[in-house]
Formats: sequence, structure tokens, C-alpha cells
Amino acid sequence: MSYEYIQYKESADYITSKLGPFKPEILIILGSGLGFLGDEVEQPIYIPYGEIPHFKTSTAPEHIGRFVCGMLCGKKVAVMQGRLHCYEGYSMQDVSYPIRVMRLVGADKVVVTNAAGCVNTEWKVGDIMLINDHIRLFGFGPLNGANIPEFGPRFNDMTDVYSKEYRSMAHEEADKIGVTLRDGVYMYFPGPSYETPAEVRAARILGADAVGMSTVPEMTVAAHAGMKSIGLALMTNMAAGVTGCSLSEGEVARTAAMTAESFSKLLRAILTRM
Ligand code: HPA
Repeated sequence: MSYEYIQYKESADYITSKLGPFKPEILIILGSGLGFLGDEVEQPIYIPYGEIPHFKTSTAPEHIGRFVCGMLCGKKVAVMQGRLHCYEGYSMQDVSYPIRVMRLVGADKVVVTNAAGCVNTEWKVGDIMLINDHIRLFGFGPLNGANIPEFGPRFNDMTDVYSKEYRSMAHEEADKIGVTLRDGVYMYFPGPSYETPAEVRAARILGADAVGMSTVPEMTVAAHAGMKSIGLALMTNMAAGVTGCSLSEGEVARTAAMTAESFSKLLRAILTRM
């Protein structure tokens, strides 16, 4: 469904009333198995999605479904513990709704994270990929429908969705702390089935290094609203057909848990420089 500007504003006003004088600058969206970072926020103010006007709630396993607002690495952040996905039955507009709301609350920077299937055969499970661009070929995007000029122009530029400046900074920080940071293209698939081996081969031919079911709706809207963004994808499994093994939710969760420490260390180092 499409939303009117007034709805975004009502949601934002509710959040602002809960936050008092606190104004988040950085929106952090946490993917599957990475929600624990929200627990590291200092002086947290919790806002469950269910109490915010017009908000939809996440049904995905492990996704708690709330904002945690407070300080992280000296920065004022709003962490999304849990996000929506189109495979839950939500539209691209629903999925990207919280980003526009947080833009109105005051955040002008975004950190997005996700669990992804690794398409690049030179990489391995547990690697972290800095997203340098994305591919979305399916259906309508989140900006389909009447443009809302308060957020951005009808035809918006997509050449620097994942800020070049942030990307070079992230590589510097990864080198400093000794975390291997890959660099690549994330390709969006609607899910909820994992991709077929043929789809994964097609993705590779098209230039993708990783495949996943999130991030692109949110980042499209963030780019439209002029937010400066960075994206990290955790390779939780080799994508379908790469190894001949079948894929499972269990593997995704296990890899996320195993990589939690280095992921958190890198994210903290990046945040400090944002
Ligand atoms: N495909 C799509 N989404 C995913 C995958 C995958 O292989 N792994 C984790 N999220």
C-alpha cells in the first residue's frame, strides 16, 4: 500500500514524543542474527513498532520488532531490532516505511546489515561484504506510485547509494582491526524460498557477489531521501548450488552467531568514524 506524507509525519511525531530531547542521527538496521547489537546501546529508549501509528510489525524469526534509541560508540543512534520483508506479505512501501519516518525524526545517515548467500566462489562463509552497489530486477520498487516531494525528487540518482566516502573509511577501519572486508554487489531476491542454483548462476553472470531478501527496499528510499549510507552483508552460507549442499535457516543463524564478535567490532569502528 502507498502512504501519504501525513502518515509518515504522525509516526515521526509519536517517536519524537517518546524520545524527548534525544534526536538520533544514525539509523542502524540489523539483519537476521545480528539484532544483539541493539542490546549494546547505552541509555536505551525502547519503542516497539506495534505502538507507533501506521507501523507494521515484523513476523520473521529472531526479529524482535522495536527501535532502540540511545548512544553507541559516542553516536546518537536509532537501532531497528527487526525489519520487515516483502516475503512476510508486506509491500516495498511497508518495508521501507520506517526509514522515511526516521528521516523525519532527524536521522540523515544509515547503516544497514543483512545475512546473505555468498555467490562469489573466491569467498567463504563468515566473510563480511561491504555493499558497493545493488541489483533489483523484480517488480515495482518502493518509490512506485505518487512521489512525495518532501522526501525527494521523482527520478532520483542512484550512483552513490552506498557512500563512496563511507566505503573507503570502512576499508581503512577493517584493515586497522584486522577484519577481512570484501567489497561487492548485493542482488535482491524476493524470497521466501532461497534462490535456485540457476538463479544464483544468473546472479553471478549479472555481476552479483551476494544474494539476499532485504536491504534494497530500505536503501532505495534512503537514497531518495538523501541519506548517507553504508551496508554490510554477512555471508552466512554459500548460495544455492555453489557447494552442492542444501541451505537451511540453521546454517544462517549459526554463522551469524559465530561471526558476531568480528562483525560487532567492525561495525563499532565504522560508527565511531561516521
Ligand atoms: N539467499 C537469500 N537470502 C539469504 C541467504 C541466501 O542464500 N542466506 C541468508 N539470507
